[in-house]
Amino acid sequence: MQTPASYGEGDATFLAAGGEAGIFELVNRFFDIMRDDPQYREIWDMHPDDAVDKDVSRDKLARFLCAWTGGPRLYREKYGPISIPQAHAHLAIDARLRDGWLSCMRAALDSCGYPEDFKAYLTRELAVPAERVRQACEKNLHAS
Ligand code: HEM
Repeated sequence: MQTPASYGEGDATFLAAGGEAGIFELVNRFFDIMRDDPQYREIWDMHPDDAVDKDVSRDKLARFLCAWTGGPRLYREKYGPISIPQAHAHLAIDARLRDGWLSCMRAALDSCGYPEDFKAYLTRELAVPAERVRQACEKNLHAS
């Protein structure tokens, strides 16, 4: 049984999430909830319509999270280097959308049936890049 303190060490978070298959499942649920729950529809609509059912966005987030949780660097392998704040800097993401993204992720984590301490850990950790995204977008919100 994983303790919260060890989740950040090495690939412990990646393994606790169920490895590559677990993370792709989590991300698929995340996007399905975003598509189906009206409260997240605005975030769904912000993603490019580049493939059926946002397949590229699903692939990108899942690959990114594999490395972010200490697993293989699958995003870089396929898409090259990435800075999360920069990747969102053209968008107008405010505190409401940041919290919506995190809440949608929390719903996806709940639907996967992970242990409570793991869900709490991941939600807390994801709040850090989510806030950096909001900060990177701040200039777009004040422009008039
Ligand atoms: C703060 C709330 C967030 C919102 C509303 C949001 C929304 C979006 C949108 C709309 C895109 C598509 C951008 C485009 O191609 O035009 C995107 C891309 C992406 N997001 Fe987020 N995002 C948020 C936070 C995060 C966080 C916290 C992560 C990672 C931990 C993340 C990972 C990614 C990745 C990997 C991509 C693909 C980037 C690329 O390859 O260009 N996002 N996000």
